[in-house]
Amino acid sequence: MYSKEVMDHFANPRNIGIIENADGVGKVGNYVCGDIMWIYIKVRKNENDEDIIDDIRFKTMGCAAAIASSSMATELAKGKTISDALKMTKQNIADSLGGLPAVKLHCSLLATDALVEAIYDYLSKNSLPVPDDVLRKHERIKIDLEKTEKMCLNPKAQENSLKKD
Ligand code: FES
Repeated sequence: MYSKEVMDHFANPRNIGIIENADGVGKVGNYVCGDIMWIYIKVRKNENDEDIIDDIRFKTMGCAAAIASSSMATELAKGKTISDALKMTKQNIADSLGGLPAVKLHCSLLATDALVEAIYDYLSKNSLPVPDDVLRKHERIKIDLEKTEKMCLNPKAQENSLKKD
């Protein structure tokens, strides 16, 4: 059973769409369900010369929980510094949505992963230092996305992979 917050963010997603000329784009996939999500960020400096997320949008091909999670993630990340945005967890998103069923918690992970990927893209494109944990997450996310895309294009591969995993 979904909370009223989940239903609201699913029915009226905030910050949906894309940003042309985004400073960072994160694309992630879940190879078990095949859902794919993009997060776009625009970054600017604040008065303390810190990078903050000035604008953020998302596009999600996925379940109700994934759409609500990406909507909530964009709401939580907007206006945050990059370092504060990186502290966001799937539990923060689930809590802000009034909870998610246990079998749907991975949907909120997709949203934090998309945000991490967008930030990774921004940092690496601008030759800024990438924290070790962001680098590690990026490597995992990249592999998951490759598997997802392969399976979405090749249903036979999905059958075989699900047998192995
Ligand atoms: S079932 Fe795939 S992200 Fe929700």
